[in-house]
Amino acid sequence: MQTGPSLKEFLAQAHDDGLIPGDLEQVLVETAAACKVIGYNVQRGGLLDVLGAEGHVNVQGEEQKKLDVITNDILIDHMQKTNLLAGMASEEMEDCLPSPEDQPKGRYLLVFDPLDGSSNIDINMSVGTIFSVLPAPKKTTPIVNEDFLQPGTEQVAAGFCLFGPATMLVISFGNGSHCFTLDPDSEQFILIDTKMEVPKETQEYAVNSSNQRHWHPPMQNYIEDLLTGVDGPRGKNFNMRWIASMVAEIYRVLSRGGIFMYPRDERNPGSKGRLRLMYEANPMAMILENAGGSASTGHGRIMEIQPEGLHDRVACFMGSVKEVEFAEGYHKGYSEEGVAKA
Ligand code: F6P
Repeated sequence: MQTGPSLKEFLAQAHDDGLIPGDLEQVLVETAAACKVIGYNVQRGGLLDVLGAEGHVNVQGEEQKKLDVITNDILIDHMQKTNLLAGMASEEMEDCLPSPEDQPKGRYLLVFDPLDGSSNIDINMSVGTIFSVLPAPKKTTPIVNEDFLQPGTEQVAAGFCLFGPATMLVISFGNGSHCFTLDPDSEQFILIDTKMEVPKETQEYAVNSSNQRHWHPPMQNYIEDLLTGVDGPRGKNFNMRWIASMVAEIYRVLSRGGIFMYPRDERNPGSKGRLRLMYEANPMAMILENAGGSASTGHGRIMEIQPEGLHDRVACFMGSVKEVEFAEGYHKGYSEEGVAKA
């Protein structure tokens, strides 16, 4: 059944071609290996007794561990053994985790969301793991949170693994975005698309429209124009999808175009958005940009934002270039807080 090269073969070739350093190649191979273990747990769900909220008591009367916590531990345990990293940061942990003092340290920092879209897990819908690789600063003292606060443009690689009907892996190390399918027989990720390309234009958008009453005026205006279809200013009909799982949503956008949005809104005026800059938005932005798409806050490029904290949030408009530009156009006369400029 295997037609394309495996992930390992593809990366080894990229290394031979001078496109990726050997230790970064290994970081991607090992992260993908950890993702396979996560997929094993996700796919066995209730059989492994890992579904449900933390604190939930299972049928044996034992307290369950939440799958977010289990998947976080899988990545940490696996990656710590590789000696390829100087530290890790995860959406599941308040602070970063420097590599153990008594172990050799690698040149990279790994940032991840171990189980994105986890509210979908109990209803057997797609979830995924998102990761981003940053350069570690050259220093002898242990890594601290501030070392991770680098804009997305500094990422040397990013990827996500989608646990859907098939397990898909998408990676980028700055020279396109590449897509693999996990072959369940050989348990290898097999290359299926060496250079993904997001169509520049689209007639499909993704947003949680139940939040409509909280949106700022530019977002209200933009969606209203999409909804009026052929009769409105856009002169064409739009389709809408919302899976509530960013990995599944971005995979769809990579495959057939579209715009994925999670705008800043009035529910929590102090917060810059819902999605996390470092664990979700930056890695997805790198993958999309390398596939000819774009990623914006509505006011500027996501990857240029200087993070202030590990868990910063950000507004997201991501996908087909022309559509993201349209969305940005609506935001031009407004501040990030949604106030019309004088
Ligand atoms: O941040 C986690 C996440 O589940 C994303 O994967 C997804 O796009 C979004 O939140 C869904 O949010 P909501 O539950 O508001 O639709």
